[in-house]
Amino acid sequence: MPKIKKALVTGITGQDGSYLAEFLVKKGYEVYGLMRRSSSFNTDRIDHLYQDPHEKNLRLKLVYGDLNDASSLNHIVKTVKPDEIYNLGAQSHVKVSFSIPEYTGEVGALGTTRLLEAIRDSGIKTKFYQASSSEMYGNASEFPQNENTPFRPRSPYAAAKVYAYWMTANYREAYNIFACNGVLFNHESPRRGETFVTRKITMALARIRHKVQTKLYLGNLDAKRDWGFAGDYVEAMWLMLQHHEADDYVVATGETYSVRQFLEEAFGYVGLNWKKYVEIDKKYFRPTEVDCLMGDSSKAKKLLNWKPKVNFPQLVRMMVDADMNVVRKILHGTKGKR
Ligand code: NAP
Ligand code: GDD
Repeated sequence: MPKIKKALVTGITGQDGSYLAEFLVKKGYEVYGLMRRSSSFNTDRIDHLYQDPHEKNLRLKLVYGDLNDASSLNHIVKTVKPDEIYNLGAQSHVKVSFSIPEYTGEVGALGTTRLLEAIRDSGIKTKFYQASSSEMYGNASEFPQNENTPFRPRSPYAAAKVYAYWMTANYREAYNIFACNGVLFNHESPRRGETFVTRKITMALARIRHKVQTKLYLGNLDAKRDWGFAGDYVEAMWLMLQHHEADDYVVATGETYSVRQFLEEAFGYVGLNWKKYVEIDKKYFRPTEVDCLMGDSSKAKKLLNWKPKVNFPQLVRMMVDADMNVVRKILHGTKGKR
């Protein structure tokens, strides 16, 4: 019998954690999800995996821990001895990071160091994936951005990610740990947190269409992002750890669209004019903005044979359809036709 591989995933309750857990369970992994204590249930994105009544040998196990608690990380790494570790946990909201810069650094920057130290201290042979971000390019000096583009972070979130990026690279070089940075550009899905702009738009659109909301308040509509589908991107994370050599990779679609174009695509899909519903509220602007991101993932394509499957219109429509169903279910308790 081949040995069952074990993976530890931090950030298991988040968007990417849920898609990655699904992906790894399908590949036959035993997945250990690190979750922090919450005063209310926060496992809705993974309940379908965790509570499957037909799955006798549950392949997803949740363990309590926190990236701010080194002893929990040490204990989990030593007892589970994972073959692969995916560090997805973070305070991941850029705007919020301006309000809680210290905490954002504690989790995103020092939390990564704590996990790397837990690996080093345990002496186990494992592979490490760090959720690095296109936000690190900030005020980017070139388009599109690739693995050699300099980082010019524009937020506490991005600065924390730059620190974690270099610690990951440093532990690879200093201690020969198989550690990779995935520099992922924005990726979205029906499971995206509702305060990120894409999901905020599709959720509001569904409510507007069902006449339970009249206005949508947004910030900077000119910002441009390279938006892909989260389900495609978790495969790239896994592929990085299967490659014979640890390295850093950009993961992106190579196309960029403004928030305004996202609105046009989403509202246009259901036959509405977004201009009738959207108002600008200054509170959603950031002290410093990242104006435009566009990634060049040709290295991932060449070395990992990875490319995105879902394009921009398909992503927008997938999210609109899903939120139409969410709202319909809340209002009528059913899943009818759009
Ligand atoms: P997300 O939905 O916000 O999920 C973040 C996860 O981190 C949640 O499970 C959260 O737990 C957990 N977390 C927060 N603080 C923690 C702590 N102190 N200890 C342990 N876990 C903690 O983010 P995502 O979109 O899935 O992104 C996953 C990772 O990729 C993040 O590191 C993000 O910064 C990075 N990233 C995301 C994108 C993107 O476009 N989505 C692009 C590049 C990089 P709770 O549920 O308890 O809050
Ligand atoms: N959240 C939000 N809310 N953003 C808005 C709004 C609004 O009401 N109005 C305009 N925007 C603009 C923001 O100013 C930003 O330029 C853009 O929409 C995208 O914002 P977010 O969806 O919050 O994502 P992000 O690009 O700041 O950060 C996400 O992607 C990064 C990768 O580049 C997060 O997932 C990060 O964790 C991730 O690293």
